[in-house]
Amino acid sequence: MSGLFSEYILNGNPIKNRVVLPPMVTPHFTGADGIVTGKNIRHYTQRTAGGAGIVIVEATAVQKDGRLAPYQLGLWNDQFIPGMATIATTIKEGEALALIQIHHAGLVTPESVFPVCKGPSADEKNPRSQALTTSEIETLCEDFIAAAVRAKSAGFEGVELHGAHGYLLNQFASPMFNNREDEYGGTLVGRLKLATDIIHGIRMACGPAFIIGYRMGANSPQLDDGVEIAKYLESQGVDLLHVSHGGSLQNLPRPPKEFEYNWIVYSGTVVKSMIKVPVIVVNEIKTPERAAYLVENNLADFVALGRPILADPAWANHVKNNQPVNICSSCKPKCRWYDAADQCPAVKRLSESSEK
Ligand SMILES: Cc1cc2nc3c(=O)[nH]c(=O)nc-3n(C[C@H](O)[C@H](O)[C@H](O)COP(=O)(O)O)c2cc1C
Repeated sequence: MSGLFSEYILNGNPIKNRVVLPPMVTPHFTGADGIVTGKNIRHYTQRTAGGAGIVIVEATAVQKDGRLAPYQLGLWNDQFIPGMATIATTIKEGEALALIQIHHAGLVTPESVFPVCKGPSADEKNPRSQALTTSEIETLCEDFIAAAVRAKSAGFEGVELHGAHGYLLNQFASPMFNNREDEYGGTLVGRLKLATDIIHGIRMACGPAFIIGYRMGANSPQLDDGVEIAKYLESQGVDLLHVSHGGSLQNLPRPPKEFEYNWIVYSGTVVKSMIKVPVIVVNEIKTPERAAYLVENNLADFVALGRPILADPAWANHVKNNQPVNICSSCKPKCRWYDAADQCPAVKRLSESSEK
């Protein structure tokens, strides 16, 4: 496991190991209007104390009307800074790198959040949808940058732009959602103009040491496009790439037969082989051995363990100390944490054993 627990220096920040807590929303912990609560703070304190090298705080809305659900953490004004500062402080005191994912849902903004949803182009299957005007795109760009500035003043060492899972930046990047004929559409450079403007704006406002990460959808729409997106974002100054899926089950890359991970991890390893900036791979990595293999064979710089660290907050420390890990039950059809952490079978197991 030594590779998993080797140090990495990113923009001058030492990172104690290669284990990442990826962003995961916890709506049941968040206060009305996106305010940080004691439950959010406890959640991140426990998971940081559990030994991950990088903690990426969950998708946090840059605009109130672009939330993915009514209960989502927010950074759309300065009132959010004190609560976020408490989270950043607890992560840094736990000696992890503190990043936060900033997000807009775009065309998939639910009606419970806002009557209209807007994205690069209207979605013909959704009568609530509209194409953004140029001035609305410029406002969005400013709001992403302002959220990053607030994250910096709260004490975060960087942000991750949510460009995956079919949300706004992913919609712009993919020709499946972006039919614009202006400067924000057409070629790859056009489709990535909003992301690029945000990256340049954050760099200007937050300085060279501030980490700008990007979570990308590998199949946007195909893996070849994902690789081009990664190369272009690298050329535009992104410091860290986190390779996930593009929110669509079409055009899925096919890993070679002998590759023992899923297509999302495979996509991350392909991106890693094509670029120089560090890459986080994710999705169903599950076990310490599989995580270590990816790092030790230079298939990834970092490995994100999402549900495993929900199930066992001390996942990294347990692995490091050769102790047993509390295993995620892989609930179907979806993880219990989306609605209620206390319904998670692994969490129940942990609390029963601590009561004994
Ligand atoms: C409860 C829950 C919430 C999630 N929220 C987010 C999120 O806020 N942003 C994001 O990019 N991905 C989110 N994801 C996806 C995870 O970051 C991760 O990519 C996914 O769980 C696969 O990794 P795993 O197999 O290690 O769990 C979420 C996943 C879960 C289970």
